Amino acid sequence: MSNPDYQSDNPVPERIARLYDESVPDWPGEIAFYNRLVDRLDPVDGSVLEIACGTGRVTNQIAERGVRTVGIDISQPMLDVAASGSTHLTNVEYICADMRSFGLREKFDLVVSPGHSFMLLLTPQDQLDCLTSVRKHLKPGGRLVLHLDQQNIDWLGRVATVDKGRAEPLPTVTDPETGNSVERTIAWSYDPPTQTNSFTSTWREVSEAGETLNEWSRGPVPVHCIFPSEAEHLLGRAGFEVEVLYGDFDEGPLTAESEEMIWVARVSDRATRPTPHPLCASQLPTITSAAPA
Ligand SMILES: C[S@@+](CC[C@H](N)C(=O)[O-])C[C@H]1O[C@@H](n2cnc3c(N)ncnc32)[C@H](O)[C@@H]1O
Repeated sequence: MSNPDYQSDNPVPERIARLYDESVPDWPGEIAFYNRLVDRLDPVDGSVLEIACGTGRVTNQIAERGVRTVGIDISQPMLDVAASGSTHLTNVEYICADMRSFGLREKFDLVVSPGHSFMLLLTPQDQLDCLTSVRKHLKPGGRLVLHLDQQNIDWLGRVATVDKGRAEPLPTVTDPETGNSVERTIAWSYDPPTQTNSFTSTWREVSEAGETLNEWSRGPVPVHCIFPSEAEHLLGRAGFEVEVLYGDFDEGPLTAESEEMIWVARVSDRATRPTPHPLCASQLPTITSAAPA
Protein backbone atom coordinates (compact mmCIF):
# COMPACT_ATOMS: atom_id res chain seq x y z
CA MET A 1 0.00 0.00 0.00
CA SER A 2 1.33 3.42 -0.82
CA ASN A 3 0.70 6.53 1.21
CA PRO A 4 -2.73 7.80 0.09
CA ASP A 5 -1.90 11.38 1.00
CA TYR A 6 0.85 11.44 -1.61
CA GLN A 7 -0.79 9.76 -4.61
CA SER A 8 0.02 11.71 -7.73
CA ASP A 9 -3.71 12.30 -8.28
CA ASN A 10 -4.02 13.65 -4.75
CA PRO A 11 -1.24 16.19 -4.55
CA VAL A 12 -0.44 18.09 -1.42
CA PRO A 13 -2.54 21.24 -1.74
CA GLU A 14 -0.71 24.29 -2.92
CA ARG A 15 -1.16 26.24 0.31
CA ILE A 16 0.32 23.41 2.38
CA ALA A 17 3.27 23.32 -0.02
CA ARG A 18 3.60 27.10 0.35
CA LEU A 19 3.61 26.84 4.14
CA TYR A 20 5.82 23.74 4.33
CA ASP A 21 9.15 25.50 4.90
CA GLU A 22 7.59 27.57 7.71
CA SER A 23 6.18 24.45 9.35
CA VAL A 24 9.05 21.99 9.19
CA PRO A 25 11.03 21.39 12.41
CA ASP A 26 14.48 22.87 12.77
CA TRP A 27 16.98 20.04 13.11
CA PRO A 28 20.16 21.57 14.56
CA GLY A 29 23.18 21.04 12.32
CA GLU A 30 21.14 19.46 9.51
CA ILE A 31 22.29 21.59 6.57
CA ALA A 32 25.91 21.72 7.79
CA PHE A 33 25.86 17.90 7.94
CA TYR A 34 24.75 17.57 4.31
CA ASN A 35 27.20 20.28 3.28
CA ARG A 36 30.11 18.35 4.83
CA LEU A 37 29.21 15.29 2.72
CA VAL A 38 28.67 17.34 -0.42
CA ASP A 39 31.95 19.24 -0.02
CA ARG A 40 33.83 15.92 -0.15
CA LEU A 41 32.55 15.26 -3.68
CA ASP A 42 34.41 16.15 -6.85
CA PRO A 43 33.24 19.72 -7.61
CA VAL A 44 33.13 18.98 -11.36
CA ASP A 45 31.82 15.40 -11.59
CA GLY A 46 30.14 15.06 -8.19
CA SER A 47 26.37 14.74 -8.11
CA VAL A 48 23.60 14.47 -5.53
CA LEU A 49 20.05 13.14 -5.71
CA GLU A 50 17.43 13.94 -3.10
CA ILE A 51 14.45 11.56 -3.08
CA ALA A 52 11.13 13.04 -1.89
CA CYS A 53 12.72 16.47 -1.95
CA GLY A 54 9.51 18.41 -1.27
CA THR A 55 9.98 22.18 -1.53
CA GLY A 56 13.73 21.87 -2.12
CA ARG A 57 14.37 23.03 1.46
CA VAL A 58 17.55 20.90 1.53
CA THR A 59 18.07 20.34 -2.21
CA ASN A 60 18.52 24.01 -3.04
CA GLN A 61 21.06 24.46 -0.25
CA ILE A 62 23.01 21.44 -1.54
CA ALA A 63 22.91 22.90 -5.04
CA GLU A 64 24.34 26.16 -3.67
CA ARG A 65 27.59 24.20 -3.07
CA GLY A 66 27.99 23.95 -6.85
CA VAL A 67 27.55 20.22 -7.54
CA ARG A 68 24.97 18.81 -9.98
CA THR A 69 21.82 18.25 -7.88
CA VAL A 70 18.55 16.51 -8.75
CA GLY A 71 15.41 16.42 -6.62
CA ILE A 72 12.50 14.07 -7.20
CA ASP A 73 9.09 14.24 -5.54
CA ILE A 74 5.62 12.90 -6.23
CA SER A 75 3.91 16.23 -5.53
CA GLN A 76 3.95 18.87 -8.26
CA PRO A 77 2.88 21.69 -5.87
CA MET A 78 5.90 20.91 -3.67
CA LEU A 79 8.17 20.82 -6.75
CA ASP A 80 6.76 24.16 -7.94
CA VAL A 81 7.86 25.75 -4.66
CA ALA A 82 11.28 24.06 -5.05
CA ALA A 83 11.70 25.39 -8.58
CA SER A 84 10.67 28.91 -7.57
CA GLY A 85 13.41 28.90 -4.92
CA SER A 86 16.10 27.85 -7.39
CA THR A 87 15.69 30.27 -10.29
CA HIS A 88 19.23 31.59 -9.67
CA LEU A 89 20.75 28.07 -9.86
CA THR A 90 21.68 26.32 -13.12
CA ASN A 91 22.93 23.08 -11.53
CA VAL A 92 19.65 21.84 -10.03
CA GLU A 93 16.83 19.92 -11.68
CA TYR A 94 13.44 18.92 -10.28
CA ILE A 95 11.56 15.88 -11.57
CA CYS A 96 8.12 14.58 -10.63
CA ALA A 97 8.68 10.90 -9.81
CA ASP A 98 7.78 8.24 -7.29
CA MET A 99 10.69 7.35 -4.99
CA ARG A 100 9.62 3.67 -5.18
CA SER A 101 10.10 3.33 -8.92
CA PHE A 102 12.13 6.07 -10.55
CA GLY A 103 14.42 5.70 -13.52
CA LEU A 104 16.82 8.55 -14.22
CA ARG A 105 19.45 8.43 -16.91
CA GLU A 106 22.32 9.14 -14.53
CA LYS A 107 24.01 7.84 -11.40
CA PHE A 108 24.91 9.84 -8.32
CA ASP A 109 27.68 9.97 -5.71
CA LEU A 110 25.26 10.75 -2.94
CA VAL A 111 21.54 10.05 -2.51
CA VAL A 112 19.87 11.74 0.46
CA SER A 113 16.47 11.33 2.04
CA PRO A 114 16.06 14.17 4.57
CA GLY A 115 13.07 15.13 6.67
CA HIS A 116 11.79 11.60 7.50
CA SER A 117 10.36 11.25 3.95
CA PHE A 118 11.21 7.55 3.81
CA MET A 119 8.74 6.98 6.65
CA LEU A 120 5.91 7.84 4.26
CA LEU A 121 6.46 4.43 2.67
CA LEU A 122 4.16 2.11 4.54
CA THR A 123 5.08 -1.44 3.59
CA PRO A 124 8.32 -3.46 3.39
CA GLN A 125 7.70 -3.84 -0.35
CA ASP A 126 7.48 -0.07 -0.89
CA GLN A 127 10.56 0.47 1.27
CA LEU A 128 12.55 -2.19 -0.59
CA ASP A 129 11.39 -0.90 -3.98
CA CYS A 130 12.62 2.55 -3.00
CA LEU A 131 15.99 1.33 -1.69
CA THR A 132 16.46 -0.83 -4.80
CA SER A 133 15.75 2.18 -7.04
CA VAL A 134 18.26 4.20 -5.01
CA ARG A 135 20.91 1.46 -5.27
CA LYS A 136 20.53 1.42 -9.08
CA HIS A 137 21.18 5.17 -9.13
CA LEU A 138 24.39 5.15 -7.08
CA LYS A 139 27.84 5.27 -8.61
CA PRO A 140 30.34 2.68 -7.30
CA GLY A 141 31.32 3.78 -3.79
CA GLY A 142 28.32 6.12 -3.60
CA ARG A 143 26.47 6.74 -0.36
CA LEU A 144 22.88 6.88 0.83
CA VAL A 145 21.82 9.05 3.78
CA LEU A 146 18.47 8.19 5.36
CA HIS A 147 17.15 10.58 7.98
CA LEU A 148 14.51 8.86 10.14
CA ASP A 149 12.75 9.66 13.36
CA GLN A 150 13.95 7.71 16.42
CA GLN A 151 10.72 6.49 17.99
CA ASN A 152 9.84 7.69 21.47
CA ILE A 153 8.09 4.71 23.03
CA ASP A 154 6.45 6.74 25.85
CA TRP A 155 4.91 9.15 23.37
CA LEU A 156 3.84 6.37 20.99
CA GLY A 157 2.18 4.62 23.92
CA ARG A 158 0.26 7.79 24.74
CA VAL A 159 -0.91 8.45 21.17
CA ALA A 160 -2.00 4.82 20.96
CA THR A 161 -4.17 5.22 24.06
CA VAL A 162 -4.99 8.28 26.20
CA ASP A 163 -3.93 10.96 23.72
CA LYS A 164 -5.16 9.12 20.60
CA GLY A 165 -6.64 11.68 18.20
CA ARG A 166 -6.20 14.56 20.67
CA ALA A 167 -5.49 17.85 18.85
CA GLU A 168 -2.40 19.67 20.16
CA PRO A 169 -1.53 23.23 19.13
CA LEU A 170 1.52 23.76 16.91
CA PRO A 171 3.41 27.07 16.58
CA THR A 172 1.59 29.60 14.40
CA VAL A 173 3.22 30.27 11.03
CA THR A 174 3.08 33.20 8.62
CA ASP A 175 1.87 32.66 5.07
CA PRO A 176 4.75 34.00 2.93
CA GLU A 177 2.28 35.07 0.21
CA THR A 178 -0.44 36.85 2.23
CA GLY A 179 1.54 37.73 5.39
CA ASN A 180 -1.39 36.39 7.46
CA SER A 181 -0.94 34.22 10.53
CA VAL A 182 -1.94 30.57 10.21
CA GLU A 183 -2.82 28.74 13.43
CA ARG A 184 -2.26 25.00 13.43
CA THR A 185 -3.08 21.87 15.39
CA ILE A 186 -2.01 18.26 15.02
CA ALA A 187 -3.58 15.05 16.31
CA TRP A 188 -1.71 11.74 16.26
CA SER A 189 -3.00 8.20 16.44
CA TYR A 190 -0.64 5.20 16.68
CA ASP A 191 -1.59 1.70 15.60
CA PRO A 192 0.95 -0.75 17.14
CA PRO A 193 0.27 -3.80 14.90
CA THR A 194 1.12 -1.87 11.74
CA GLN A 195 3.60 0.54 13.41
CA THR A 196 1.63 3.29 11.71
CA ASN A 197 1.34 6.70 13.35
CA SER A 198 -1.25 8.80 11.52
CA PHE A 199 -1.63 12.54 11.90
CA THR A 200 -4.43 14.93 11.09
CA SER A 201 -3.56 18.61 10.95
CA THR A 202 -5.83 21.64 10.95
CA TRP A 203 -4.94 25.08 9.65
CA ARG A 204 -6.73 28.42 10.32
CA GLU A 205 -5.66 31.56 8.50
CA VAL A 206 -6.57 34.61 10.57
CA SER A 207 -6.73 38.33 9.90
CA GLU A 208 -5.00 40.89 12.11
CA ALA A 209 -8.34 41.35 13.84
CA GLY A 210 -8.43 37.61 14.59
CA GLU A 211 -11.21 36.72 12.11
CA THR A 212 -11.03 33.37 10.37
CA LEU A 213 -10.20 33.91 6.68
CA ASN A 214 -9.69 30.29 5.68
CA GLU A 215 -9.78 26.93 7.39
CA TRP A 216 -8.70 23.55 6.14
CA SER A 217 -7.51 20.20 7.38
CA ARG A 218 -5.41 17.38 6.09
CA GLY A 219 -5.18 13.75 6.97
CA PRO A 220 -5.07 11.28 8.43
CA VAL A 221 -1.60 10.95 6.89
CA PRO A 222 -0.08 7.56 7.76
CA VAL A 223 3.60 7.47 8.71
CA HIS A 224 5.47 4.22 9.26
CA CYS A 225 7.50 4.10 12.49
CA ILE A 226 10.83 2.46 11.77
CA PHE A 227 12.91 0.98 14.60
CA PRO A 228 16.73 0.71 14.40
CA SER A 229 16.99 -3.01 13.70
CA GLU A 230 14.24 -2.73 11.10
CA ALA A 231 16.17 -0.03 9.24
CA GLU A 232 19.31 -2.13 9.36
CA HIS A 233 17.50 -5.20 8.01
CA LEU A 234 15.86 -3.17 5.25
CA LEU A 235 19.18 -1.69 4.16
CA GLY A 236 20.81 -5.14 4.25
CA ARG A 237 18.00 -6.73 2.23
CA ALA A 238 18.27 -3.98 -0.35
CA GLY A 239 22.02 -4.59 -0.76
CA PHE A 240 23.42 -1.80 1.42
CA GLU A 241 26.06 -1.92 4.12
CA VAL A 242 25.69 0.46 7.03
CA GLU A 243 28.72 2.71 7.29
CA VAL A 244 27.60 4.65 10.36
CA LEU A 245 24.48 5.48 12.34
CA TYR A 246 24.23 8.89 14.03
CA GLY A 247 21.75 10.08 16.63
CA ASP A 248 21.99 13.73 15.57
CA PHE A 249 23.41 15.92 12.81
CA ASP A 250 26.50 16.74 14.89
CA GLU A 251 27.44 13.09 14.32
CA GLY A 252 26.83 11.96 17.89
CA PRO A 253 26.00 8.28 18.51
CA LEU A 254 22.44 7.00 18.68
CA THR A 255 21.40 6.86 22.35
CA ALA A 256 18.13 6.29 24.18
CA GLU A 257 17.67 10.08 24.22
CA SER A 258 18.33 10.65 20.50
CA GLU A 259 15.35 12.01 18.61
CA GLU A 260 16.76 11.30 15.16
CA MET A 261 18.47 8.45 13.31
CA ILE A 262 20.81 9.35 10.46
CA TRP A 263 21.91 6.26 8.56
CA VAL A 264 24.84 6.47 6.17
CA ALA A 265 25.08 3.40 3.93
CA ARG A 266 27.06 2.22 0.94
CA VAL A 267 26.21 -0.35 -1.69
CA SER A 268 27.40 -3.62 -0.26
CA ASP A 269 29.90 -5.73 -2.12
CA ARG A 270 28.43 -8.65 -0.17
CA ALA A 271 25.11 -8.07 -1.95
CA THR A 272 22.45 -9.35 0.47
CA ARG A 273 24.30 -10.05 3.73
CA PRO A 274 23.07 -7.68 6.45
CA THR A 275 25.71 -6.04 8.60
CA PRO A 276 25.55 -6.05 12.42
CA HIS A 277 23.91 -3.09 14.11
CA PRO A 278 26.68 -0.49 14.48
CA LEU A 279 25.95 -0.07 18.18
CA CYS A 280 26.06 -3.81 18.78
CA ALA A 281 29.01 -4.57 16.55
CA SER A 282 31.57 -4.05 19.33
CA GLN A 283 29.69 -6.48 21.57
CA LEU A 284 29.54 -9.27 19.02
CA PRO A 285 32.00 -12.16 19.23
CA THR A 286 34.49 -12.17 16.39
CA ILE A 287 33.56 -14.83 13.89
CA THR A 288 36.46 -16.27 11.96
CA SER A 289 35.54 -18.24 8.92
CA ALA A 290 37.18 -21.60 8.40
CA ALA A 291 39.88 -21.72 5.76
CA PRO A 292 38.74 -23.52 2.60
CA ALA A 293 39.81 -27.17 2.57
C1 LIG B 1 7.98 15.53 4.94
S1 LIG B 1 8.18 16.05 3.27
C2 LIG B 1 9.97 16.15 3.23
C3 LIG B 1 10.49 16.99 2.11
C4 LIG B 1 12.01 17.20 2.11
N1 LIG B 1 12.73 15.95 2.03
C5 LIG B 1 12.46 17.98 3.32
O1 LIG B 1 13.19 17.43 4.15
O2 LIG B 1 12.10 19.14 3.44
C6 LIG B 1 7.82 14.55 2.46
C7 LIG B 1 7.81 14.62 0.95
O3 LIG B 1 7.72 13.28 0.45
C8 LIG B 1 7.02 13.33 -0.78
N2 LIG B 1 6.58 11.98 -1.10
C9 LIG B 1 5.71 11.19 -0.43
N3 LIG B 1 5.60 9.99 -1.03
C10 LIG B 1 6.41 10.02 -2.10
C11 LIG B 1 6.74 9.07 -3.10
N4 LIG B 1 6.21 7.84 -3.11
N5 LIG B 1 7.65 9.41 -4.04
C12 LIG B 1 8.21 10.65 -4.04
N6 LIG B 1 7.92 11.60 -3.12
C13 LIG B 1 7.04 11.28 -2.16
C14 LIG B 1 5.90 14.31 -0.50
O4 LIG B 1 5.31 14.83 -1.66
C15 LIG B 1 6.64 15.38 0.33
O5 LIG B 1 7.12 16.40 -0.48
